[in-house]
Amino acid sequence: MSPYITLDVFEETGYVVLDPYDQSADPAEWLDIEYVDWKSSGDTRFAPLASAYGDLECDGFWNHTPPKTDKDGVWVPANVEKAPRLVERAKEPGANIGRCRVIELQPNSYADTIYNLHRDDNNRLNPEGTGWIVRGFFNLTDDPDSAMVLREDKDDPSTETRIPLPAGAQLIVDTQRLYHAVFHPGSQPRYNLITSWTSGPELGAYIEKYHGRSRVDSLPVDSSVIDAATEEVARRRAARAAALAARGKDPRFGDGTLAASEGMGQTEVLSEA
Ligand SMILES: [Fe+2]
Repeated sequence: MSPYITLDVFEETGYVVLDPYDQSADPAEWLDIEYVDWKSSGDTRFAPLASAYGDLECDGFWNHTPPKTDKDGVWVPANVEKAPRLVERAKEPGANIGRCRVIELQPNSYADTIYNLHRDDNNRLNPEGTGWIVRGFFNLTDDPDSAMVLREDKDDPSTETRIPLPAGAQLIVDTQRLYHAVFHPGSQPRYNLITSWTSGPELGAYIEKYHGRSRVDSLPVDSSVIDAATEEVARRRAARAAALAARGKDPRFGDGTLAASEGMGQTEVLSEA
């Protein structure tokens, strides 16, 4: 039993897919807002709409003074002005909002995606007894051949779901439970609005209103592609481990502390999809 307030609809699979949104009716606000470089899973930039204290930056709320959990985000005036519709959509559930930002992701391969699979730590500093933080993903560009790749077990392709990302796709994911990363084989960047929401009756009612489904058909990917990616990722992980081990042995860095902290650092920054 979770010590947090959670929603039953996430229990079985850890995600829900809502009715699609008519994205074509909206202006492309994501092209007008200001992006900052932020390391994440893949080649990305981010445009914050809400940050820890309203600055144009994307750091985790726990990395600020004073630190806080991923709740009570403060709107970033310059970007909010240029993206009123995106802000309205983030606010629609009426649930508490933490980080809210548009991600720009450059095209990648399926192997890149599997290498980038990670879990978020949205609930760091989140007090027990309060709502569990999950994240909404609204696809803004039309990327029908791209997918949000989710795995319950990072190394087990049989636990994988690939949620297709045409314009207007709306999903909510327990990103602290599920490994996730986006597969984007397109030729243009993909844009997506990511919002941290607190679980509770407001978010539950919103999911119900838009007929949240906790199981959908995966975007087809050939099994040979999956097998090749599994091998490629094993090679990349081994190369990375060897590089870190070699640096850890470097006398300039003493007893390997650097390797350990770098590894942790990577986990921390891989907080988006
Ligand atoms: Fe993430």
